[in-house]
Parts: sequence; structure tokens; C-alpha cells
Amino acid sequence: MTQQCDWLLGNLRLATLTDSEIPYGAIEDGAVALAGDRVIYAGPATDMPDLAARRRLDGRGRWATPGLVDCHTHLVYGGSRAPEFEQRLRGASYEEIARAGGGILSTVAATRLAGEDELYTSGRQRLLRLLEEGVTTVEIKSGYGLDLESELKMLRVARRLGEDLPVTVRTTFLGAHALPAEYREPGADAYIDMLCRDMLPEVARQGLADAVDVFCEGVGFSPAQTERVFEAAAAHGLPVKGHVEQLSDLKGAVLAARHRALSVDHLEYLAAADTNVLAEAGTVAVLLPGAFYYLHETRLPPVAALRERGVPMAVATDLNPGTSPMASLLTAMNQACVLFHLTPEEALRGASVNGARALGLDDRGQLVAGQRADLALWDIDSPAELSYGLNYHRPGALFQGGVLQH
Ligand code: NIG
Ligand code: FE
Repeated sequence: MTQQCDWLLGNLRLATLTDSEIPYGAIEDGAVALAGDRVIYAGPATDMPDLAARRRLDGRGRWATPGLVDCHTHLVYGGSRAPEFEQRLRGASYEEIARAGGGILSTVAATRLAGEDELYTSGRQRLLRLLEEGVTTVEIKSGYGLDLESELKMLRVARRLGEDLPVTVRTTFLGAHALPAEYREPGADAYIDMLCRDMLPEVARQGLADAVDVFCEGVGFSPAQTERVFEAAAAHGLPVKGHVEQLSDLKGAVLAARHRALSVDHLEYLAAADTNVLAEAGTVAVLLPGAFYYLHETRLPPVAALRERGVPMAVATDLNPGTSPMASLLTAMNQACVLFHLTPEEALRGASVNGARALGLDDRGQLVAGQRADLALWDIDSPAELSYGLNYHRPGALFQGGVLQH
């Protein structure tokens, strides 16, 4: 009997992003078949099995890519940091502002005050901007609450966004983002005690986080404090990731890799020699050129060493109110090429298959049978165009979980 499928998409060029000698794993004259929320065929049209299709779509020669994955965002937050942008342009540094109680802590104050619906509404607006560009999976971190109730509030908002919008949301508990003002006196060790004893177990108990993150930095937490959080995460069965080597080299990436981190993120100050450890641990290097751009950084992440060691590189927006108020993954891909010298193919893999791996997801990011039916169709002549023009492209059609969105 002929097998049934829900969608048959023909006349496409496929950027399958499989491990292939061919750039982008490209297949000209391609076809894709979807059944339920899965791809059941993606390959040359001529090799397609005989399928009875409920619906058909003529791709008209468009390029199909996997749905994009933004694997690092802080898109749920209250308030605005535009005044700090002005301060920085008058000469104050990000670290000076942070040490004076601004920066992350000013967003913490606004986020604590904000009601859940208010956070939902503003977060939804930012998330919609990402979806317009073909994002079908996004990570959202907490970290602007820094007390149990406010962290739970942020994570609930993130989960709700994933339930209401056509996107997979993965949540990350980032309670160790900054030291809240009320802990300045007892100090960071006391805050980490409380986080490991009270916050993390409750977040885990309520099933609100898929991973745990720490800002390991002079203005964040020390490697020893970071390690305690990683150990507590492991005790609750949660994988870890780290904001590391953004402003200095504290060897946070090596520490994270020892804890089998899903990803290490930022990495401008990562020593080239430390890329080996990431390769061995299978930890993804997440590049965040938006923060580099906004902070006028000059130190580049060791991309050549990462490439040479075969460390998977992901690219994400870091969408946040302070260092990367940028709701555009295609812009991050462009910046990764222009500022960090990634190739457009690396940028696209970074915003799809490697972004998915940074979230511990191996069921998406490539156009092959068995993967989730998340895919975008683009009116472009080559996939490099996605990283080339700024604000040139929106998908002409988008499937999320096998459902045609537009
Ligand atoms: O990823 N590095 C720390 N955290 C964020 C910035 C957060 C903020 O400034 O609000 C980042 O860049
Ligand atoms: Fe971040």
C-alpha cells in the first residue's frame, strides 16, 4: 500500500546541513515529505518513494533550510537599559556600570517589579521578531529575578511563550547571573549556598528548567562558585552551560567541559590551547557577536583554533537588554561572518544544527528523514545570502512541527 504523508514539498533546493563534502549538504532538485511533526523524506526528487500526499506545495525553486535555532537568549525581562547605552557612549564601561549597581542589577529591579503578564507581553513581542526570521527553536534564560519567586516567574513566562507560540522553547535557569543587592553583605558564597539549597531544587522540582547556566566572570561568579552550581545541577539531573571567557580568561570553559557542559558561550578570551578540551568533551562553542558588537570589544574568539579542533560552533543572538538588544538571528549570523570571520556556511550551521546541539537536541537542525518537520523556504539564490544582506530576508514559507505557519 502506498504510504501517506501530510505534505509533499517539491521543486526545492535543499540545504540539508548534513556532514557532507558538498557545501551546505546541498541537493538541487530536491523534495521533502512530512508526516505529522516529522520529515519522512528529504532528498533528490528522483529518489523519492511513492507517497500519497494530503497536501502539496510547489517550492518554485526556493531554498529549504532547517528551521533556525537561537540557542542563547535572555528575552524575558522588564525595563529598558537605553540610558546605560548613553552612559557607555559617554565613556563608562560595562564593568564600571555593573559594579556601580547598574547593568544586570537594574534589569533585576525592573523584572522583580513587573507582573507576569507584563513580562509575557514584552517577551512575546521580542520572540515574534525572531520567529519572523524563521526561528523555530529558542532558548530563554532566567537570571533577572535572582530570588526564588522572581526566577520562577521568569521561567513560567518562558514556558508559557512556548505553549502559545509556534516555537519550541528550551528554558535555562541562570540564577547565578549576578549577585543581587541584598546579598552584597553576606557575599557571593552565601548567595550560591542559597541558590544550591533552595532555588535550584525548587526550579528542578517544578520542571521549569531544561539546563543550568552560570556567568563565570569577575563581575559574575568565580570558577569555584560556578563549580558548586554545576554540581548541584548534576545532582538534579540537569545539564549545564556557561557564560565564560567573555571579559577575561578564568578558565571557565575548561571547567564547564569537565562537567560535560552542553555549551560554553561568548569565549572572546578563550585561550586557543583550551579548545582541545572542548573538542574532547563534545561541548559546543556558542559565539555571540551581538554582545561583542554592542560592547565595542576588540578581542576575537579563537575561531581558527575551534575550527581546526573540530569544535562545533553555534551562533546566537544573546538577545538581552544590556549587551545585545538584538532580536535578529540573521543579523547575528551576519556579524559572526563580518566580525568573527565565520564562513556563511558555518554561520548557518551555527544557527541550526549546532545551535540545536548546544541545547542537547539532536532531533532538529538538519533536513533529513526522522528530524522534526521544522523548515523554512527562502527566496534566495544561494544559502550564503542569509548571512550576507542585512534585513533582506524573511522565509517565504515556514513549517513548525509539520504545520505550515505562513
Ligand atoms: O550574555 N554576560 C552576561 N549576561 C548577558 C548580559 C546581561 C545584561 O547585561 O543584562 C550576556 O551578555
Ligand atoms: Fe547571555
